[in-house]
Amino acid sequence: MTEIPVTARSGSYPIVVQRGLARNLGALLKERGHRLLVIADDNTAELTAAAIAEQAGAAMFAISPGEASKSFASLERACEAALAAGLDRDSLIVGVGGGVVGDLSGVVAATYMRGVPLVQIPTTLLAQVDSAIGGKAAVNLPHGKNLVGAFKAPEAVYVDPELLVTLPEREYKSGLAEIAKYSMISDERLFDSLLNNAARILQRDLELVTPIIERCCEIKAGVVSRDEREDGERAILNYGHTVGHALEAATGYSVMTHGEAISVGMTAAGRLGVAAGVTPAEVTSRQAELLQALGLPLAAPGAAAVDAVLAAMSHDKKSRGGALRWVFLEAVGRATAGHTAGGDAAREAVESVLSRGADE
Ligand SMILES: NC(=O)c1ccc[n+]([C@@H]2O[C@H](COP(=O)([O-])OP(=O)(O)OC[C@H]3O[C@@H](n4cnc5c(N)ncnc54)[C@H](O)[C@@H]3O)[C@@H](O)[C@H]2O)c1
Ligand SMILES: [Zn+2]
Repeated sequence: MTEIPVTARSGSYPIVVQRGLARNLGALLKERGHRLLVIADDNTAELTAAAIAEQAGAAMFAISPGEASKSFASLERACEAALAAGLDRDSLIVGVGGGVVGDLSGVVAATYMRGVPLVQIPTTLLAQVDSAIGGKAAVNLPHGKNLVGAFKAPEAVYVDPELLVTLPEREYKSGLAEIAKYSMISDERLFDSLLNNAARILQRDLELVTPIIERCCEIKAGVVSRDEREDGERAILNYGHTVGHALEAATGYSVMTHGEAISVGMTAAGRLGVAAGVTPAEVTSRQAELLQALGLPLAAPGAAAVDAVLAAMSHDKKSRGGALRWVFLEAVGRATAGHTAGGDAAREAVESVLSRGADE
């Protein structure tokens, strides 16, 4: 068992990583002696959450799988379920699922009766290394993602890598894109280990994947402990996300997974970083080698119109005062935030990943 501490302004909590952990979590939660509401989606309910809820004697609320459920309607229904189950301010919300369930659970826990305790049990690779850590929680508005939410530190995050065996292939690879990102922005040793072991990682060899998950949790825990509110360092976690988020928006969140979009976004950011004289060209070739070894795309030929992606970028809530801020690599394992780049260079970088033949 590994315990990784997060010490942030909104609260301190451990990330506990252990294979097989989920089998005992129901009993562990029951010991608290409080009322519980387990929030899941239909898939994670069937695979894991219903068993945890039963063991814990908890009430259960499940949404339909998918981004569309990260909504005000789900928030209202979840709070109604909490009320019907008799939850009060000492009760506990337990999110069992991917980032959609985790984000919804966070908003429920932040707002139901002005705030109740929260435990996160992430079940996707993306949630285990990224979304369950750091306290950000949000739901979507019809006009944009993550526009209403809160910082809500959980009491604990319980990560069981064995839950990953049932994850669909594309979802697994989506998490690998965030892992590749962590290596590019902050850990060259992780980069080497990902590149040297890509085949075994793709086979989900948990002997190998478990320490990789732990390392990524450590990296994110470190960054958010130093800068929870994204006044500075946390921004480097957005590497690849300026173009990535815009691609997702321009393709309606249905064509590409988040990780695929981020992989393409990292490729575009690499190119722009080279054009800006910040990123050595050799760094972008090594990045491409890793992304390809992990079965991730470097381009999305024809997936969206260049202008649609550029327009979505300019709506990105992280742009301040009109100018886009970029995260660029300075080396494998080192990134810096706050770079500006000319509009022509940005267009060229976006064009390069969208043009037909870009993946040849
Ligand atoms: N709060 C944050 O800091 C943060 C960071 C990154 C992403 N996010 C959010 O996370 C969301 C994406 O999360 P995601 O990629 O985990 O997607 P997701 O929650 O939609 O899960 C993906 C799919 O996998 C299924 N699934 C989950 N666990 C499974 C398992 N163990 N076995 C089989 N199937 C399983 C789900 O039912 C779903 O169909 C987005 O809404 C994004 O905005 C939040
Ligand atoms: Zn991401």
